[in-house]
Amino acid sequence: MVFPMRHLLVPEDLSAHEIETIFAIAQDLETKYEAGVRDALFPGRVLALVFEKQSLRTRVSFQTAMVHLGGDSLFLGADTGFASSRESTDDFGRVLSEYVDCIACRTKSHATIEQLAAVSSVPVINALSDYSHPCQALADCYTLRRRVGRLTDLKFSFVGDGNNMARSLAVTCGLLGMRFVLASPPAYQFDQGFLSHLKKLLPKAEIEQTTDPVAAVKDAVAVYTDVWASMGQESEREVRRLAFEPYRVDETLMAFCPDAVFMHCLPARRGEEVTDAVIDGSQSVVVPQAANRMHVQKGLLAWLLGHH
Ligand code: CP
Ligand code: NVA
Repeated sequence: MVFPMRHLLVPEDLSAHEIETIFAIAQDLETKYEAGVRDALFPGRVLALVFEKQSLRTRVSFQTAMVHLGGDSLFLGADTGFASSRESTDDFGRVLSEYVDCIACRTKSHATIEQLAAVSSVPVINALSDYSHPCQALADCYTLRRRVGRLTDLKFSFVGDGNNMARSLAVTCGLLGMRFVLASPPAYQFDQGFLSHLKKLLPKAEIEQTTDPVAAVKDAVAVYTDVWASMGQESEREVRRLAFEPYRVDETLMAFCPDAVFMHCLPARRGEEVTDAVIDGSQSVVVPQAANRMHVQKGLLAWLLGHH
C-alpha cells in the first residue's frame, strides 16, 4: 500500500490515533537507542532544515535523529535566500523538494510554511512558526505520559502568553483527552478566532482561560510556561514584562501544586517567566523534555516517511 504524503504544520494535522502511533514508534526507538541499537531506517534519506530563526533543540535533535537512523540532513540558513527577495517561496519549495526526502522548516510567518507545504513534493514539518510549534507539543505530551503513565482527564496548566506554544499544547492536550487551562492577562489570552477553531475541532475538550494563575495550577499534573516575548516580539519585551509580572512561575505558585511537574520548552528567560529555584528544582522536567524532542521526532520521521 502506498502511504499518502502528509505534512505536520499544526498538531491538528494528526488524529489522536496517529499521535499514539508516533509515540509508540518513538518509545521503541528510544528504548533501542538507550540499549545502544541504532536502526538504519533511513539509509540514503535526506532531511532539509530550513530555518529563518535561531534554534538549538529543534535543529540539533532533527540532525542527530537523522544520523542515528542512518540518514543525513542539511542545515539551510539565511544564505540560501529562503523567504527573501532572492526567489519566491514556491520556486524554493518546488526545487528543494526535488533533492530531499523531507523538509523541516522554522518560519517567521505561519503563512510561509503553509505556502512551502502547498508546493512541496515531500513531507513538510513545522519546526516552529509564529502560530504553532507542533514538534515541541508532541514531545511535551510524550514526556508527561512517560512521567505520569497516563494523560486522559488530567489537568494541564499553561501560565503565560497565549502564544504558538500555548496554542499547540491546547490542541495536543485536547486531542489526547487532557483538560487544558491557560492563565494569562486578558490581552494575551487566545483570541476568538482560535477559540472558535478549538470548539469546532474538539467540541468535547475542556479548554479554559483564566486570569488567576493560582486557580490554574491547583490540581494540575503539569505547569508549563514559555517566554513572555517570543522570537520576533523583542520590541514588545518591556510592555510584556510588565503585563506578565503576576504570572511568573515561582516557588510560591508551585507550592499550590506540589505533585505537578514544571515544564518549559526552552530557551528560558530566567527571572522573568520562571525563577531559577523552579526551573532547577525537583519538580522541573525541562531537560528530559528537551531530550525527548529527538525521540519523538524520530517517531514522527519514521511515520511520515512510511517506516512503521
Ligand atoms: N524548544 C525549542 O524549539 O528550542 P529551539 O528554539 O532551541 O529549537
Ligand atoms: N514561543 C517561543 C518558543 C521558542 C521555542 C518563540 O516562538 O520564540
